[in-house]
Amino acid sequence: MTQSVVSKPVIVVGSGLAGLSAAYEALKAGASVRMLDRAPKPGGNSIKASSGINGAGTPYQRAAGIAQDDLFFADTVRSAGRRFREAAETGESPVVDREALITKLTSQSAGAVGWLADEFGIDLTVVATLGGHSLARTHRGAKSTPGFAIVSAILQKLGESDKFQLINSAEVLSLNVDGENEAVTGVRYTHEGQTRDLEGSVVFAAGGFAGDASGLMAKYRPDLVGYPSTNDERPGSHHILEAVGAVFVDMDSVQIHPTGFVDPKDPEARYKFLAAEALRGEGGILLNHRGQRFVNELETRAHVSDAIQKLSQSQAYTQSRQWDVTLVLDPGASEAAQSHLGFYIFKGLMEKKKIKDLEPDIIESIDKYAAAVKSGQDAEFSRKSFGHWTLAPGEENREQEICVGKVTPITHFTMGGAAFNTETQVLTKDKTPIVGLWAAGEITGGIHGDNRLGGSSLLECVVFGREAGLQASKATIRK
Ligand code: FAD
Ligand code: SIN
Repeated sequence: MTQSVVSKPVIVVGSGLAGLSAAYEALKAGASVRMLDRAPKPGGNSIKASSGINGAGTPYQRAAGIAQDDLFFADTVRSAGRRFREAAETGESPVVDREALITKLTSQSAGAVGWLADEFGIDLTVVATLGGHSLARTHRGAKSTPGFAIVSAILQKLGESDKFQLINSAEVLSLNVDGENEAVTGVRYTHEGQTRDLEGSVVFAAGGFAGDASGLMAKYRPDLVGYPSTNDERPGSHHILEAVGAVFVDMDSVQIHPTGFVDPKDPEARYKFLAAEALRGEGGILLNHRGQRFVNELETRAHVSDAIQKLSQSQAYTQSRQWDVTLVLDPGASEAAQSHLGFYIFKGLMEKKKIKDLEPDIIESIDKYAAAVKSGQDAEFSRKSFGHWTLAPGEENREQEICVGKVTPITHFTMGGAAFNTETQVLTKDKTPIVGLWAAGEITGGIHGDNRLGGSSLLECVVFGREAGLQASKATIRK
């Protein structure tokens, strides 16, 4: 009989969804886990996720009438754009194997959704079509927002194990390396004013750099520094991986989400609440400063954001680059997005208005779109899915209440990051895996290319986070 002797813990850096998924799998495999997060509270950006997690071939899709979904890989490749095409066309052997990473992401997506639902009892029964997706495949629950529901359920389960320890306000400063073997042997971190070393195999899940406006954003995308963001101010931790030889890919691919709320009380705030893409998925439309539609609202994020940035920039703002766009939800879309709207209305980011009280240009656009939905054909912008829009065109809708809010493009997500492989080993420029080090989540690069599909970040956190936890635990448990 072999007896497992746990020698050193798996050290997880970051308590977002990638770190939490890694921790859970490592514990299941028999390791003990020490999770370090520099923030005072756990959850990272993951806890803010608002639209959901992608899954192709789930029972929830089938319940929604989608018998089969074999388009997720193709949608992801199309969205990844030039980065994926160039790799395929040049025939070069890039550091990251994009095709293998996307295959793993998409083929394990139903399993990832099932894992969250079955292992943690998380409600993911509602499916919506987000931009760039051929089908409805972004899952969330009926009542609470997905990021909060997922993070709190996993944290609760982890907390039941005496082999799990989470230390907040613990900032990892560097990775310790065994000079002779060039292997990562643990981390150096600060906590309560003291610097400490901890030995173990390391899963690095420290998130992206969209909040690092004056650091990595200024370095890789100086043109975006004046944009507001959904990410609060936070420096990237990429230098910690760089110091041990990790190579980075796609660092200038930064996602601009088309719809950050402009708060009327503080219109130029740098940090903005996100108007979840699910609002458009459930039927919402976008109008320009003249009150007209200008884009298929369910195109990829890159496409919709580009279309907004081609409109004239609002001159009302002096501190930041913002555009004047209105998000409109009819009664059907509002009903379907109820779980989100309560919060947005409470925060003063959206308001209910009777149609008769809107500007005439807006009423005209709403009528035109309602007529398109009624006919099943959006001749102007070729939108294919109308979500839950029910409003009919014409005079009879004037007493109906709709929801409106002002939105503008914002920096949201960084596609670039540390090169890694399907086993989540972090790679050097000659593709050699760094021993003792695994990574997952937004800190990694290569999966999404130029543009991530909405809902695929939570998915990558689960798929690659779980893998990282498993691999790191194998290295730390002696048989
Ligand atoms: P994070 O969740 O950001 O966690 C990283 C953690 O690492 C942080 O807690 C940070 O404090 C910690 N850390 C960093 N450096 C150190 C260090 N040196 N030492 C110790 N700790 C460190 N994606 C979707 O798929 N679906 C959605 O609906 C969705 N909605 C979103 C809504 C908003 C408002 C935002 C901002 C993002 C959304 N995203 C969504 C994107 C997604 O939430 C994130 O990309 C993803 O959660 C990143 O997870 P992560 O675990 O990699 O990093
Ligand atoms: C959103 O809710 O619009 C964000 C979804 C995502 O970033 O995947």
